[in-house]
Amino acid sequence: MPKIALLPGDGIGPEITAETVKVLETVGRHFSRSFEFATFSIGGDAIDRFGDPLPPQTLEGIRAADAVLLAAVGGPKWDHNPGHLRPETGLLRMRKELGVYANLRPVRAFEPLLHASTLKQEVLLGVDLLILRELTGGLYFGEKSRKPAVGGEVATDTLVYTTGEIERIVRMGFEVARTRRKRVHSVDKANVLESSRLWRETVERIAKEYPDVQYDHILVDTCAMQLIRNPRQFDVIVTENMFGDILSDEAAMLTGSIGMLPSASLGAGVALYEPIHGSAPDIAGKGVANPLGMILSAALMLRHSFGWEQEATVIEQAVAEVLAEGVRTADLAGPAEPTVSTSRMGDLIVQRISAKVPIV
Ligand code: IPM
Ligand code: MG
Repeated sequence: MPKIALLPGDGIGPEITAETVKVLETVGRHFSRSFEFATFSIGGDAIDRFGDPLPPQTLEGIRAADAVLLAAVGGPKWDHNPGHLRPETGLLRMRKELGVYANLRPVRAFEPLLHASTLKQEVLLGVDLLILRELTGGLYFGEKSRKPAVGGEVATDTLVYTTGEIERIVRMGFEVARTRRKRVHSVDKANVLESSRLWRETVERIAKEYPDVQYDHILVDTCAMQLIRNPRQFDVIVTENMFGDILSDEAAMLTGSIGMLPSASLGAGVALYEPIHGSAPDIAGKGVANPLGMILSAALMLRHSFGWEQEATVIEQAVAEVLAEGVRTADLAGPAEPTVSTSRMGDLIVQRISAKVPIV
């Protein structure tokens, strides 16, 4: 029985986690699978309760799990805390501890949502890309410092990459491209950054092992523009940590709402699954959050951690069908469209799964 560590975190986290568990339990019932859930504290919640954004018992719990499912962390309450007592620090430490260096962020346009996007539908139709973001290196983890200086202070963040760190993520990019449309865009800023020049050289070397995959280098600023101009040209985008963070929020708008996007973070051991959106403290506790990003992250977990392709697909189809019927949480609704609550959305996904799969 797979052990799943649940990390509801902050803001809307607990609400969307409850809906995701409902969906997983439904899938379990219909496919004769069972899960063992254990819930642990992370982020601001863990700072308040244990004085540590990633307390030892959470670390122990995730190490003992077969997969980790996280909602979101952060909020204004902790925004002025020192670095080691910020909710985000708990998340970053966890990514590093688990060694999940590869963050897969699939971006697919959901047709029924496109009219609600600020972008033109004809630009968005058929978009199906994957952002592969390096997750345990770069600016996020390089040395930081802050010192007094004449007239104020001086602050430093360091962008560090080793050949080995670049190789493993780039190789994964070419490997996943082989399972898709065999097209890689490697994103860098090689006209300015030394780390990007090492990145580019490494891509060129690895690309020789994949003659069947077409690849291009693209500068990050150009990529940001092309994502909006013509997103269908992209299949796999492989890039470093910070560029991937920024480009994936941008790419989220290609789907209609950032609330829809799941992600999988993979390494050699336990994998971590989380929606790419944040904790949305402004709407927390109101029962209006969109649980679909986390529900779709759970589908990725079933596929990547347990190899349960059918179970994953049923969830993804249920989401697509419920959207096609016009069901909308507030973030997905156009001006005149009626909306459903977080738990109603969860219930409708559950009903849809139950209708599709007879209990075996
Ligand atoms: C993300 C988030 C995190 C990141 C924050 C919360 C630290 O924006 O997962 O994209 O920057 O990686
Ligand atoms: Mg982000």
